[in-house]
Amino acid sequence: MRHLFRPIDLGSVTLRNRIVFPPMTTGYEEKGMVTPRSRTFYRNIARGGAGLVIIGDVSVQPSFAPTPFVHDDTFVPGLRQLVDQVHAEGARIAAQLFHQEYDTADIGRVMQAEGREAARQQLHRDMEDYCNRLTADDIAAILDRFRGAARRVRAAGFDLIQVHGDRLVGMFTSGLLNKRTDQYGGPLRNRARFALEVVRAIRETVPDVPIEYKLSIIRTDPPMGKAGPTLEEAQVLAGWLEEAGVVSFHVALADHGSIGDTIPAMGTQPYGCFADLAEGITRVAHVPVTAVGRILDPGFAEGLLESGKADLVGIGRGLIAEPGWPRGVERGNVDDLRMCIMCNHCASSLMSNQPLRCAINATVGEPEPVTIAPAAARRRILVIGGGPAGMEAAHIAARRGHEVMLVERESRLGGQLPLCSAPPYKHEISRLTQFLTNQVARRNVEVRLGAKTPVSDLLDEIRPDAVVVATGASPVRLPVPGSDRANVVTAWDVLAGSAAVGPRAAIVGGGAVGVETALLLAPRGIQITIVEMLEKIAAGESPTILPFIHAQLKRYGVRVLTQHRLASVEADGLSAAAPDGTTLAIQCDTVVMATGTWRNPTFGDEIGARGLECHVVGDCTDGSPGTLAGAIHDGFKAGMSV
Ligand SMILES: Cc1cc2nc3c(=O)[nH]c(=O)nc-3n(C[C@H](O)[C@H](O)[C@H](O)COP(=O)(O)OP(=O)(O)OC[C@H]3O[C@@H](n4cnc5c(N)ncnc54)[C@H](O)[C@@H]3O)c2cc1C
Ligand SMILES: Cc1cc2nc3c(=O)[nH]c(=O)nc-3n(C[C@H](O)[C@H](O)[C@H](O)COP(=O)(O)O)c2cc1C
Ligand code: SF4
Repeated sequence: MRHLFRPIDLGSVTLRNRIVFPPMTTGYEEKGMVTPRSRTFYRNIARGGAGLVIIGDVSVQPSFAPTPFVHDDTFVPGLRQLVDQVHAEGARIAAQLFHQEYDTADIGRVMQAEGREAARQQLHRDMEDYCNRLTADDIAAILDRFRGAARRVRAAGFDLIQVHGDRLVGMFTSGLLNKRTDQYGGPLRNRARFALEVVRAIRETVPDVPIEYKLSIIRTDPPMGKAGPTLEEAQVLAGWLEEAGVVSFHVALADHGSIGDTIPAMGTQPYGCFADLAEGITRVAHVPVTAVGRILDPGFAEGLLESGKADLVGIGRGLIAEPGWPRGVERGNVDDLRMCIMCNHCASSLMSNQPLRCAINATVGEPEPVTIAPAAARRRILVIGGGPAGMEAAHIAARRGHEVMLVERESRLGGQLPLCSAPPYKHEISRLTQFLTNQVARRNVEVRLGAKTPVSDLLDEIRPDAVVVATGASPVRLPVPGSDRANVVTAWDVLAGSAAVGPRAAIVGGGAVGVETALLLAPRGIQITIVEMLEKIAAGESPTILPFIHAQLKRYGVRVLTQHRLASVEADGLSAAAPDGTTLAIQCDTVVMATGTWRNPTFGDEIGARGLECHVVGDCTDGSPGTLAGAIHDGFKAGMSV
């Protein structure tokens, strides 16, 4: 890793390496104020070895967004503490200054007077044309806000300012959104005016603080993103920005299109998905350029630098899941790194107004640092079930010094994980399987596979001090007439590769598992109909992946029949009932049931009879969300508690 760990200068600021934590809103701030959660999060990223930590969406005006504010001096002491903690870990820190592309005061007024829906509609209108309505006085006031914010950011001790070239600034530069006819609209020179004024305003206010610009670029073929220039325009804009004093660029896809394009989920875009844009800027720029977007593999990151496509790499979700990525890679300790699976649970938590959490790392978002410290006394721990919940509990307990035995009734570890990662676009989940199985082996957990021994015998034999029950769930077959026919299989059997499927298949249940099974089978040329009783399929899927799923279903000609309930299975297909009582016959060779799960037994009686400490975790828990996040977080908690 010759290039990754070489220091680099951004203007007057030297970074210890080329690894950047890009701007990521966390939702940890309260009314714009830094909280212990914010400090712990960024300190962990810095401690993990990143060279530069960028604080995302630092707002220059009051806002209802869950981001840090800097429109008033009261925010400075909190930011100062954050900066000091990051500096103490040897990293540099930048504030990404931004102005919303909507009128926060006006939306607040609409919310009070007309309610949430009216405010939402106003927000959507603003996001299309706010930049077009601003008067010269409005623009002057906004520039003043950037000046004030820059002064405060400097007072808080930040090393750099990043101008967010998306959002309002991006709208101005965009040929798609900017419809102005004055000196701020029309040709690129005019559309660039506001961005350049922002940069100059900051430069004049704090000449000693280097300025980076986030160049958010739109694609034209196929169209992606709206709030930014095209690559050709960005190459020209970059020159003007350099003249205005910008010392580095951070290049990504522009927003205002689909969030799934700017934060691509697993399997939906290639690794290094915006690296071509960064390369386009590197070719013309005279200052360092950061590439960001699905960069995770250390060799891949090194290759980007070695090939000269970029000077630095931004690793966002990769460092959320594993803040220790830089140090681990530098020490060659990659097996111990929790590699992000790009599930976008983090983005979804923010979109549902919750603070950022990571599906596969339960410590992310905790207010105080979590240390996996040795237990007070070594105990014998029995873990029943080798899915993600059981494996997480087992390796964490073993790291704390316990003697751990993990029993799994199947001949392999993983539980549902291999099913999760079976559809081609979900293959990245296998990184989690790999991490957990590695950890179980490296922490000397004793694993017993194919364990069919009754639990009471196991308890007598092992005599544990505590038990973790992680037996997961099993698929359900709807009890309709004909559901026991030979042409009925479960989605689990299909995903595991243990059930044959004929040339025409009907999948009953259009939840995530049904849809994923369809997308495993359809590319093989199997004609698929999904039968779903609700109005929509894939309900509950992240908005960052839904457009991809719908596009894939369309691409492979999957037929979707909603508001139909399975009534019966026949030898040559099934019949489904509509809400009005009419039935529809669907001819097919195989009926695939993707109709949910039941919790597996948790052996409360056997364990309770012995008065043993017991932790029930993951899918077998009453009321479990049935997600990887639920399994990993429960497992971690149990591993830390035993
Ligand atoms: C097709 C599919 C796709 C999915 N995709 C996603 C996704 O994208 N995102 C997401 O968040 N979640 C997803 N899930 C859900 C996720 O996989 C589960 O929530 C998670 O695996 C639950 O983990 P667990 O360890 O609690 O249970 P499991 O994974 O079910 O593991 C339980 C283990 O216990 C073993 N076991 C059971 N009884 C005994 C016993 N008596 N003795 C010994 N061993 C026993 C089982 O054999 C199994 O290995 C998906 C599930 C499926 C089926
Ligand atoms: C939870 C989350 C929050 C984000 N917040 C911001 C933000 O505040 N400002 C910004 O410019 N980009 C934001 N982004 C985009 C990231 O900076 C980055 O471009 C994107 O995640 C792709 O990089 P990655 O694949 O390494 O995660 C956010 C992304 C995520 C997942
Ligand atoms: S929640 Fe998923 S995408 Fe986000 S950091 Fe964690 S593993 Fe990666």
